[in-house]
Amino acid sequence: MNNLLKAVVVAMFVICVAASAYAIHEIIPSETFVPLPGADAEKLNEYLVLYNPYKGWSLWPGKKKLYRGTEPHGVLLTTFVNDIALRSIKKKTGMKYGSIIVKENYTPDKKFIALTVMYKIQGYNPEAGDWFWVRYARDGTVQAAGKVKSCIDCHSKRKDNDYIFSGPVK
Ligand code: HEC
Repeated sequence: MNNLLKAVVVAMFVICVAASAYAIHEIIPSETFVPLPGADAEKLNEYLVLYNPYKGWSLWPGKKKLYRGTEPHGVLLTTFVNDIALRSIKKKTGMKYGSIIVKENYTPDKKFIALTVMYKIQGYNPEAGDWFWVRYARDGTVQAAGKVKSCIDCHSKRKDNDYIFSGPVK
């Protein structure tokens, strides 16, 4: 084989490999990218348990697991934040859309009783900070979801802090 022919064969091989890698990439998007769910408590639960398990997220900055909380959330709490929420808390520019805060509520004897979640969705409820509120029972059953009045009424005490009690976010 002369050198020119060799070069052509090599070039064709490289083009084929690159083209198929590109095609595969188009069919299977990056595994690390899982789109956020909409304002849907069942889908959000799936997302939190299966697609982007909250147990692997960061804890609320400066808080440990099972810290002391107040009513109505249980005596012991563990609060997780997704990356968007973590960045928002650290930068103190208010919570960005896509922020999710997941709080595990425990009894004094460390029994897990419920999961309460705040999820900020653009345009969902502009009158109350665009938060989507959910309370799940221990087994994942949805106990309250959406523009939940009781959650909003109490959290409105911290309206100036984007409805958040756990620490300054602005
Ligand atoms: C009577 C007041 C009250 C009600 C009602 C209430 N919360 Fe809270 N929430 C708090 C307080 C106070 C904290 C701070 C943690 C603590 O000390 O318990 C908190 C913390 C949270 C947090 C962690 C982020 C933050 O704001 O600090 C989430 C998430 C949350 N609550 C969700 C909910 C949901 C969902 C509901 C309704 C199902 C709800 N809350 C109802 C008072 C309330």
